[in-house]
Formats: sequence, structure tokens, C-alpha cells
Amino acid sequence: MLKLYFFISLLCLVKSDTDETCPSFTRLSFHSAVVGTGLNVKLMLYTRRNQTCAQVINSTFLGNLNVTKKTTFIIHGFRPTGSPPVWMEDLVQGLLYVEDMNVVVVDWNRGATTVIYNHASSKTRKVATILKEFIAKMLVQGASFDDIYMIGVSLGAHIAGFVGKMYKGQLGRITGLDPAGPLYNGRPPEDRLDPGDAQFVDVIHSDIDALGYKEPLGNIDFYPNGGLDQPGCPKTILGGMRYFKCDHQRSVYLYLSSLRENCSITAYPCDSYRDYRNGKCVNCGIAQKESCPLLGYYADNWKEYLKQKDPPMTKAFFDTAEKEPYCIYHYFVDIIAWNKNVRRGSITIKLKDKAGNITESKINHEPAVFQKYHQVSLLARFNQDLDKVATVSLVFSTGSVIGPKYKLRILRMKLRSLAHPERPELCRYDLVLMENIETVFQPILCPELLM
Ligand SMILES: *[C@@H]1O[C@H](CO)[C@@H](O)[C@H](O)[C@H]1NC(C)=O
Ligand SMILES: *[C@@H]1O[C@H](CO)[C@@H](O)[C@H](O)[C@H]1NC(C)=O
Ligand SMILES: *[C@@H]1O[C@H](CO)[C@@H](O)[C@H](O)[C@H]1NC(C)=O
Ligand SMILES: *[C@@H]1O[C@H](CO)[C@@H](O)[C@H](O)[C@H]1NC(C)=O
Ligand SMILES: *[C@@H]1O[C@H](CO)[C@@H](O)[C@H](O)[C@H]1NC(C)=O
Repeated sequence: MLKLYFFISLLCLVKSDTDETCPSFTRLSFHSAVVGTGLNVKLMLYTRRNQTCAQVINSTFLGNLNVTKKTTFIIHGFRPTGSPPVWMEDLVQGLLYVEDMNVVVVDWNRGATTVIYNHASSKTRKVATILKEFIAKMLVQGASFDDIYMIGVSLGAHIAGFVGKMYKGQLGRITGLDPAGPLYNGRPPEDRLDPGDAQFVDVIHSDIDALGYKEPLGNIDFYPNGGLDQPGCPKTILGGMRYFKCDHQRSVYLYLSSLRENCSITAYPCDSYRDYRNGKCVNCGIAQKESCPLLGYYADNWKEYLKQKDPPMTKAFFDTAEKEPYCIYHYFVDIIAWNKNVRRGSITIKLKDKAGNITESKINHEPAVFQKYHQVSLLARFNQDLDKVATVSLVFSTGSVIGPKYKLRILRMKLRSLAHPERPELCRYDLVLMENIETVFQPILCPELLM
């Protein structure tokens, strides 16, 4: 018994010891979530000189925070189990990797931890007031509004909005990562994040049918995969806890991928996801590069362009892969048919490179309508970006299981990369696709247009 007592004391000693040297994010138990927690906001500073060991700061003690640098606040949301957010460490490291800045983790786990969402939500204004006081101190010390950036996740996005409102939109930037929907959907601008809350507000919506906010809230609103179900997330409750939070959290992981160098996700301004899927909004060639912004950290490079619009709000769509780095690569497949009669159907396309890598795209748009001598441009999405395509395979399908098999006669097929418009376009002339039968061929370089 005594032994056990010592063991436990030792554990406590070790714990409080590490707490003192390197403060960490508040870790609470599910028990705390059940009984509820009172609000306590802890601000933890990370810098390039102190990347892994935080310094606790407050409005009377700014610590090593260098006010001449950019300061990024990370504000989490509702914590129904009391655990620290799994992505927090990666986000801190990712930000410090891309820029020499101050990163301030706003730990309001005491307050956010409760099984009752409304209780967490009711504390958001108070958190915002505390942050406002902290920023006031930074300004006194010489910080500039332009350098203040807030990344708010879920409820945290509305907290950032409340801080921004108190400063009448002067903060440099707010990024909302799947801003909370429940209790906020349909609320007036003063009760939620709004494009007027900072000089630039960008938002990623990844769970608009459950935990996230549906309508646009920023100067640019990104809707990955339409904002509904994210690929790779469990579709049923059998997926356990992930079923509830996977779509919601995807906004954070997409943002994180923008801090790494694996790929950049281009988003396509469009009125609807459907139009994007049908290839109506992807015409941003080199000439109009500014019209197709990148998702994530670098989205503010499009700030001036986006703010000039009237109203200064843009919706942008894109699809993603199931897992990191999430990028998919868009190609246009332009087809000119020469069937006598109109054909309706869809096309599956496979690309293979010299090394034998294969990537496939089901162009699952609504059935395309192929008319004699008319060009149809289909948007194909691949998980891999094959630089040197050796062979292309096409399958045409009308989707009917019974009935006659149709042919699609193609006068010219052209494959062009959207991500790399400088790459040569690949062509194939005079081709007949038998329904549901794979046709494999080597494309040729399309002849250059004579000027
Ligand atoms: C890093 O953080 C620790 C703990 O807050 C502090 O003791 C130390 O002085 C910091 N180091 C630097 C270089 O800022
Ligand atoms: C702020 O932090 C300093 C240093 O950790 C501490 O001495 C002080 O009591 C804190 N002030 C408040 C208001 O929490
Ligand atoms: C603060 O940052 C500026 C510019 O990045 C730098 O010149 C200065 O030395 C820094 N101050 C301290 C105390 O590190
Ligand atoms: C992405 O890039 C980072 C470095 O920027 C690397 O650590 C990571 O392993 C890469 N991830 C993938 C999936 O390639
Ligand atoms: C293609 O395959 C080679 C060898 O199997 C591999 O090293 C390379 O990374 C692959 N390229 C792509 C774009 O996947």
C-alpha cells in the first residue's frame, strides 16, 4: 500500500516538474467534461528560438514575444472529451516552419471542455475579451494590426470574429477552419465571423451538413469536395468517434498541408459545386492566374483581387484525395465527336507513364452530351500527377446495363493539364470507343496552332 502511495507521489512529482519547465496544453479527463469546467484562458508562446517549449504569457507579461514580427493566434473549439487537439503541435510547427513569427496557442480547454456544446459556446465572448486585452498590450508595445493573424477552428473561428469586431476589422487576417454551425447558422454578422472582422478573412468549410457553418463568412470561402462529405472519412457511425469529427477536422488538415511543400491545392471560384464538377469554372490559365487562389496559408496573396469584388465575397470549390497531401490534379479532356446521333454518357480515363505508374479518373460528372463536331470539355481528376504520359486508356459508358451497346466516334481527343498549362497538350485523332470496352493508345503531341 505504501509502495503504491510513493509510486503515485512520484508520478505527480514528475508531472508537475515537466509542467514547470515546459508548459503544455491543458489535458482534462472525460470526467471534467461531464461535470463541466470554468473558463481559464492560458496563452502559450512558441517561437523559432523556442519551437517545442512554450512560454506562458499574459497581458501583463509578453515574455519573448517580439512585437515587430507577425503574431499568429491559434484558437481551438469545443472539446467534448477534454483531450488536447491532436493537430495543435503540427500546426504550431508548420507555421514556424514557413515563417519566423510568434505563435500563440490560445488554450481555453477549461471552458471548452464540457459535454454540453451550448456551455462551451456561451464562453466564446469572454475568451474574445481576454484576447482583445492581450492584443491591446501588444499594440502599446509597438505591434501593428497588419501583423496580427488569428486562426480559429470551429467555435474558435467565431471567437476570432468577435475579437476582430472589437477592433473594427483592423486585424490583419482571420482564417476560419470549419467555423461552428450549430447555434451560429443563420445568425446576424454581429453574432458570428463575418468578412468585415479583419482586413482579410478566409474560411474553409468541410462539414456544412453537421458541425460546420454552411453559408459564406469571409472574403473567400473554400468548399473542399463541396463542403459536405470528405473522402476518406467514415460514412457511418460504425467508424466510431471519427465519424463525428473527421469531416470537421479535415479543414485543419487541409490548411496544414498548405504549410508543407508536398503540393498546393488550387481552388476554383464558382457559383456552385455542381458547376465546378461540370468543368465550368476551371478556366484559369496563366493569363488569369490571380483568379484561381491557393487554399491555406498563402490564400492572402489573392487578398487585393478578392477584396475588389462587389460584394467582396467569393466561393471557391475543389476536390481532394482521401489522404495527405490531399492534392488532386486536374486535366481537361476535350472531345470532339462525329456520331450522327447525339450520345449521352460518361468516360473513365487512365493514364500510364513510362515507369508504369497508373492513375485513373472516373469523370463522374453528369452524363456528357456528345454532338457531332461540337467540343465537350470534361474535367478529370487524378490522384497522381504523371509528368510524362506514355499511354491513355478510355472507356465510354452510357450507364445502361441492358439494351444495345453504343459506340462513340471521336474526331479528336485532347488532354491538357490545368496545374501545368505549360506542359505539351496530348492528342489522339480518329478513334472509336465501343461501350464499356477499354481502348488503349499512345497519344501524340497536339500540333501547335500556327499564328
Ligand atoms: C524557452 O522557453 C523556456 C521555458 O519557457 C525558457 O526558460 C527559455 O528561456 C526559452 N528560451 C529562449 C531562447 O527563449
Ligand atoms: C502574468 O504572467 C506573469 C509571469 O508568468 C505572472 O507573474 C503574473 O502573475 C501573470 N499575470 C496575470 C494577470 O495572470
Ligand atoms: C525582433 O525582431 C526583429 C525583426 O525580426 C529583430 O531585428 C530583433 O532583433 C528582434 N528582437 C529580439 C529581442 O529578438
Ligand atoms: C510532406 O512534406 C513534409 C516536409 O515539407 C514531409 O515531412 C512529409 O513527410 C511529406 N508528406 C508526404 C505525404 O509526402
Ligand atoms: C512512378 O514510379 C516510380 C517507380 O515505381 C516512382 O519512383 C515514382 O515516384 C512514381 N511517380 C509518381 C508521380 O507517382
